[in-house]
Amino acid sequence: MSRMDRLSQSPALRGFPVGRMGMRPSGAASWMAAAFLVSLALAGVVLGHFGVGENGTALALRATARWCFLLFWPAYAGSALAKVCGSRFGLLASYGRQFGLAFAAALLVHVGLVLWLLHVAADQRSPMIFFWVGVLCTYALALLSAPRLHELLGARLWRLSCQTALHYIALVFAVDFVVEPLRASGPDKYPLSYLPFVIVLAGGVVLRLMALAPRRQKA
Ligand code: HEM
Repeated sequence: MSRMDRLSQSPALRGFPVGRMGMRPSGAASWMAAAFLVSLALAGVVLGHFGVGENGTALALRATARWCFLLFWPAYAGSALAKVCGSRFGLLASYGRQFGLAFAAALLVHVGLVLWLLHVAADQRSPMIFFWVGVLCTYALALLSAPRLHELLGARLWRLSCQTALHYIALVFAVDFVVEPLRASGPDKYPLSYLPFVIVLAGGVVLRLMALAPRRQKA
């Protein structure tokens, strides 16, 4: 069995096609194009309705971010879901890379709106390094998921960078869905509209922890 086949068999990398031989049908480009166009259309509808000022842009940022989350979650927890809940989720897991690349494409519109917000709302100009690191993680992961690049990295370094980047992006979503709204409106006025996202995100973290546990026992 070649190294590429061994790489593609490892549980953590299931869903990320590796090497030209044995590459799953990716169609990543069409996933990315579709995700980007939906994000663009969402932003267009919201800006068209609420205007391109600070308020309209903030609402478009929320809409595009929530679309990004729907794409990010299968990339983040799809493999763990299949491992914990069985092979019926195998198909979702096998498209982990496509969901990850689609998330990266959809996030481009969110980043574009951020730059527009920095243009229309001077008072919003704070470094927001924490969020920009999330953007860096997203596009570094998208780049490194290219077969040739992670062949160069090797399985161990690829796994480490992939896990770190995915967990960091999950943390950015957690800050946006929990910390920022709590800071903005306090615990007694926490908008319940965030709860479904918080529950799904927390579910993803728990699934990943559960998927780890059997392996550790085996080891
Ligand atoms: C991986 C990168 C990023 C992720 C996952 C992300 C996620 C999110 C989420 C989930 C929301 C919606 C919050 C809500 O519904 O209230 C949001 C809104 C927003 N994001 Fe991002 N974001 C990212 C990058 C950035 C960056 C780099 C900036 C700016 C430097 C930024 C600025 C904003 C702003 C201004 C809002 C609107 C906040 C509001 O008024 O409600 N985001 N983002």
